[in-house]
Amino acid sequence: MVWDELKVHRDDRVSLRIESLFADDPERAQGFAVRAEGLLLDYSKTAIDERARDLLLALAESAGVAERAQAMFAGEKINQTEGRAVLHTALRNPGPDPVLVDGEDVLPGVHQTLARMEDFAEGLRSGRIRPPQGGRFTDVINIGIGGSDLGPAMATLALAPYHDGPRLHYVSNVDGAHIHDTLEALDPASTLVIVASKTFTTIETMTNAATARDWLMRRVGAENAGRHFAALSSATDKTAEWGIDPSRVFGFEDWVGGRYSLWGPIGLGLMIAVGPKHFREMLAGGHAMDRHFRETQGAANMPVMLALVGLWHHQVCGYPTRAVLPYEQRLARLPAYLQQLEMESNGKRVAMDGTTLDAASGPVVWGEPGTNGQHAFYQLIHQGTQVVPCEFMIGATGHEPDLAHQHRLLVANCLAQSEALMHGRSLDLARAMMAEAGFSGDELERQARHRVFPGNRPSTTLVYPKLTPFVLGQIIALYEHRVFVEGVVLGINSFDQWGVELGKDLARALEPIIAGTQGTEGKDGSTAGLVAFIRAAGG
Ligand code: F6P
Repeated sequence: MVWDELKVHRDDRVSLRIESLFADDPERAQGFAVRAEGLLLDYSKTAIDERARDLLLALAESAGVAERAQAMFAGEKINQTEGRAVLHTALRNPGPDPVLVDGEDVLPGVHQTLARMEDFAEGLRSGRIRPPQGGRFTDVINIGIGGSDLGPAMATLALAPYHDGPRLHYVSNVDGAHIHDTLEALDPASTLVIVASKTFTTIETMTNAATARDWLMRRVGAENAGRHFAALSSATDKTAEWGIDPSRVFGFEDWVGGRYSLWGPIGLGLMIAVGPKHFREMLAGGHAMDRHFRETQGAANMPVMLALVGLWHHQVCGYPTRAVLPYEQRLARLPAYLQQLEMESNGKRVAMDGTTLDAASGPVVWGEPGTNGQHAFYQLIHQGTQVVPCEFMIGATGHEPDLAHQHRLLVANCLAQSEALMHGRSLDLARAMMAEAGFSGDELERQARHRVFPGNRPSTTLVYPKLTPFVLGQIIALYEHRVFVEGVVLGINSFDQWGVELGKDLARALEPIIAGTQGTEGKDGSTAGLVAFIRAAGG
């Protein structure tokens, strides 16, 4: 079995130093990198050699990644536990070739909705769509959570240099502090509220939306409040019940998963911020990555290689987490976005056929932008006892030509980190440093040991020309397909999320207990004790 061969190969070479691979192969940097439409993914600073790569590619082939990808793009119901097609790729597909679900082309509907979104976004941006009492909508609040928040919030920040529309605010947490602090700073007369929820039942979103509605009713009057709302949802019956005018409801089909939904109506806030043209450029970047993914074979396929590197580190080498480290302040929310994309998709313990997985599923994903992380958790990455594969990202240029010297520093820091992780610092070098600093004897030895970096820690670096809407689309689609490939190889369904349900059910049942209208009978001692403490403390 290929997994076993991979593990044997890894065990055979466990003491190999990554840097020695460069000595053996002067062309390694070129050979262990993928280029795709202006992007470069360098994975040469990992322990993957030719044999490992061949085995990993064989793994992808034997799992049927290419066939499964064609099935996804063709609208087959590959989300088997929910009986749904998986077609977020259709949201960024300009056509003209049809994409069929149950024999029907979905693209005309996608393009119609996009045109309606554009009309609405342009209306707000130009002032054609006005608040009922006059003036302009200067502020837009997107109320949503998970996939109905993370994607547009991440992308709105990422594309800040293109933001020339109304101000955007994202409210997600059921913690009243979130909506309170947001509303407090806004003028209701010039604020539009978008309720973003695929199901229109999510408790956090519906609670925050009700709070916003009360705020508007109190401040602009019940007769005007309705014209301050729009909705993004598949559940048009529920948006109607909630009283949102159908002309301001932007729907999408069940073949768009929440965490894959930025490309359609859930991206409306982003579109209002940056304008339809830039939104379409993002779609074009995503579509370009789709074409690359579908049409490129083997090691030249960027999402496939990013996935195989991930599988190598987590499933073969056993590293429990991976860090996503964008050297781009405007990608500050990308790690949070990828946490949902990767961990909600591939954090499963059962295979598609219901059997228990015999390999580990997805790793823990975490991260922060560089250089901030360097001054926080990089200590552990460099000298801690566990290995954290790092995924660096950096743009060749920034958006601030007059601050090019700062961008050079940013690039230097990014490249220095992957260099340091790979080479480390030997005990001999640390001793020489300490001798030069005037230490000797036992104290020199003790001090030197604290200054050793083991090195041999793997990383990848993704380089893009500049963080434009097109490039952002490429990066997001790259990661979507990476998650897909990992899921196929592991044999799991990356498109359901049953693991979020139990906690929601229990929270619903606990609410009246916390309110004191029901007792704690039947609750375990810890939960009952926590409720008692919170109530006694005034809760
Ligand atoms: O609880 C998890 C989840 O269902 C996510 O998958 C989804 O992105 C989020 O909640 C929000 O769901 P909705 O858009 O239906 O409000």
